[in-house]
Order: sequence, then C-alpha cells, then structure tokens
Amino acid sequence: MSELDDLVAAARKASQSAYAPYSNYRVGAAIRSASGHVYTGCNVESASYGATVCAERSAIAQMVAAGEREIASVAVFVDAPEPATPCGICRQTLVEFCDDAPVVCATPTARIETRVAELLPLPFKFRR
Ligand code: THU
Repeated sequence: MSELDDLVAAARKASQSAYAPYSNYRVGAAIRSASGHVYTGCNVESASYGATVCAERSAIAQMVAAGEREIASVAVFVDAPEPATPCGICRQTLVEFCDDAPVVCATPTARIETRVAELLPLPFKFRR
C-alpha cells in the first residue's frame, strides 16, 4: 500500500463520522503533516447551512490543535459517483499551511490526483 493509499483509507474511515443530515453527502479528509502524523476530519453540517465545516478544514483544525503547522499530503474521500475536490474556502485554508502538497480525491472506484498549487494557483498570502 502506498502512502497515499494509506491516507485515502484514513479519509474513508473519517467519512463514516460525517454529520451530514442536510446534504447526506459524507466527506472524510486525512492530512499527513510534516512530522508524518495523520490527522483526520469529516464534514459537520448545521441547520444554519453557512455554519457548516468541511472535512478538509476539520482535519486542518485537528492538525493545528495538535501543535503542527505544515501539511505534507492530503486525501479527501466521498462515497459518491465522482470524487470531491476541495471547495474554495478549503483551498485557501490548505495554502495557509503549505505552499504545495499532493492531494488525492477518491471514491471507492475513482481517483483524482492533483496538488494544492494546482488547485489554487497564485494564492493570496499575507506578506507584510
Ligand atoms: N464538503 C466537504 O466537506 N468538503 C468538500 O471538499 C466539499 C464539500 C461538504 C460540505 C457539506 O457538508 C457537504 O459537503 C455538501 O456540500
């Protein structure tokens, strides 16, 4: 099993914890940090829809809460006909913690392999 397969398996497992009563679209994410640790997250929806947190940002929050600041690789899993690629807000949040990193977006039968820098070219970063 490759390192990315490992990460997809962790994202798949995390998707089972998704709280998605409104969309019924259960997303899991797994992030390997610079230290090699794997942090997972799932989407957490809200009756006030805009308060929903995506799986990717939920995994990033776990990483940051554990004291880490560097994303090495990312997996997103959804059991749907097509893979879910990170939304715009999640792309911006990913570039907060890496300049570039491999991203694999998977379903049980399909995969998109991309990179953070490809998902969000010319990102805004605070440079003062
Ligand atoms: N969602 C994610 O968790 N990650 C994505 O990359 C795309 C969308 C969630 C948000 C919401 O709970 C559901 O998927 C439908 O948009």
